[in-house]
Amino acid sequence: PSLVQFVDSLAFPPTINLSSLTPPQQLTLGAYRIMQKLHRDLPSTPMYAFGTSRETAISPGPTLLATQSVPANVRWENHIEDITHMFPVDDSLHRASPIHGGVPIVVHLHGGEVHSSSDGHPDSWYTSKGEVGSTFSSQNHTYINEQSPLALWYHDHAIGITRLNVVAGLTGMYIITSQKEQEFLPVGLPLVIQDKQFFENGEINFPSVGIIPVYHEQWCPEDYGDTILVNGVIWPFFKVLPRLYRFRILNACSARFLVLSLDKPGMYFYQIGTDGGFLPQPWNLTSITLAPAERADVLIDFSGLLNGVSIVLNNSGPTPFPSGDIYQMPPKTYDILKFIVDEEEGYREGLVEGDYVSDIDFSSLLMDEKPLSKEDVVAIRTLSVVEWDNDNHLPLIFTLDNHTWEDPVVQEPVEGTTEIWELVNLRINAHPIHIHLVQFQALDQQSFSSLSYESGNCSLQVPYGENGSCFIEPAKDPYIYQRGWKDTVITWPGVVTRVIIRFSQRNGSAFGFDPSEGPGYAWHCHIVDHEDNVMMRPFVVTPNNT
Ligand code: C2O
Ligand code: CU
Repeated sequence: PSLVQFVDSLAFPPTINLSSLTPPQQLTLGAYRIMQKLHRDLPSTPMYAFGTSRETAISPGPTLLATQSVPANVRWENHIEDITHMFPVDDSLHRASPIHGGVPIVVHLHGGEVHSSSDGHPDSWYTSKGEVGSTFSSQNHTYINEQSPLALWYHDHAIGITRLNVVAGLTGMYIITSQKEQEFLPVGLPLVIQDKQFFENGEINFPSVGIIPVYHEQWCPEDYGDTILVNGVIWPFFKVLPRLYRFRILNACSARFLVLSLDKPGMYFYQIGTDGGFLPQPWNLTSITLAPAERADVLIDFSGLLNGVSIVLNNSGPTPFPSGDIYQMPPKTYDILKFIVDEEEGYREGLVEGDYVSDIDFSSLLMDEKPLSKEDVVAIRTLSVVEWDNDNHLPLIFTLDNHTWEDPVVQEPVEGTTEIWELVNLRINAHPIHIHLVQFQALDQQSFSSLSYESGNCSLQVPYGENGSCFIEPAKDPYIYQRGWKDTVITWPGVVTRVIIRFSQRNGSAFGFDPSEGPGYAWHCHIVDHEDNVMMRPFVVTPNNT
């Protein structure tokens, strides 16, 4: 359907304050099948969504607001009674396949430092009928909330059907704040950006014919929508006062990389934080690149703008990213959201006190942790990022470290130690790699010749400039949008992206739990279509016995 842009007002999912729950501090959220109105001219859309009841369930789900150091318990129930999924599952994929039918779910807190039994392990799925996956232990998840203020998000993670559950609506924001932060800044407004496609009757059009049907009848390597939603509203407008606002932007698209800009000269994003919290130093950007799952914490200053002025938040990210050569970006995905300055009706809550960025004292909020040090590194792991692995695996799959999800664990870092992971992207497009449990930092990036590497004519262990090296340039600083604390990092084609990771709390020597217990964690590509087939690997953290 051809939907008119900017006719519906931006909405915000309700916020649930986890630190004000009454004892025993447990919130119950259920997944339900609902009908949701996404656009003035589109009939209501069947979705799967989270809420405290069927009546209040909404997609994206409630924004969960936690306070640093105040733990919270969330019970995630599955009330989706469909016998089969609303979208076609692909029988060739390794996936949650309950004998008695139903829609398996399991909820992952993305970027959260949590015990693995609360992490939403892909094999810990469960259905509304009580059938469970091999590593299931409980629907009650404990979030210790020890992390510094940051914006996380929750989403489904059931093995082999994550892409379907996420597109169907099982996502939401999770923000950790602190008293100190609130002295200076409001929590801000979530902007959850997604792309989808629709049928005239309002249903989501999820591609049901595989691109290589001999191997995968119903799996497509990337699902790109032609319609943009923000917080579950198609191409919304948002009335603002001529003031400063804080936005917590999340790219919740399945496969689309966003390159965001504002269409008014002189307007910029004042970026104060990334996936993992505040930056060491805020900066002005005219454009922000966000891969699926990445977040940007930004201030946008509308002060001084005249009543009635409008500014469109745009996306110019090519599909696939960065080559853009297979699918043409549908033109309407260029527009995301129209801000309209309105002195009477502008959104009043969530303003930054003080009209200008310069009035805010950021100094006490900024990242003050010591950056991770190369001198502490105990292991360097070289890990391949490969699409279309046809040498070793049939049917065709994507792989990480040349293994599948079901292969034995290889990455077993020791708690409290620091490692470098060298992510070697051997193909022509970028893959956003997400590692559960930790916030890490991008160290550098270095181009190499993947042709020579794959023909075995050179080595990545030989430094640039020496005989037999695959590198074609010295290591460079990461791009500006890869800096700060990250849980998801873009690996560029033909580039080794090095990240430094400390497997413990940033400020302490240990997690607040035993990370070696439970089913372990996952690291994977966050193009959810890739993750499902089967660009995902398990890892475990082993105890430090010294
Ligand atoms: Cu956002 Cu393993 O996921
Ligand atoms: Cu990928």
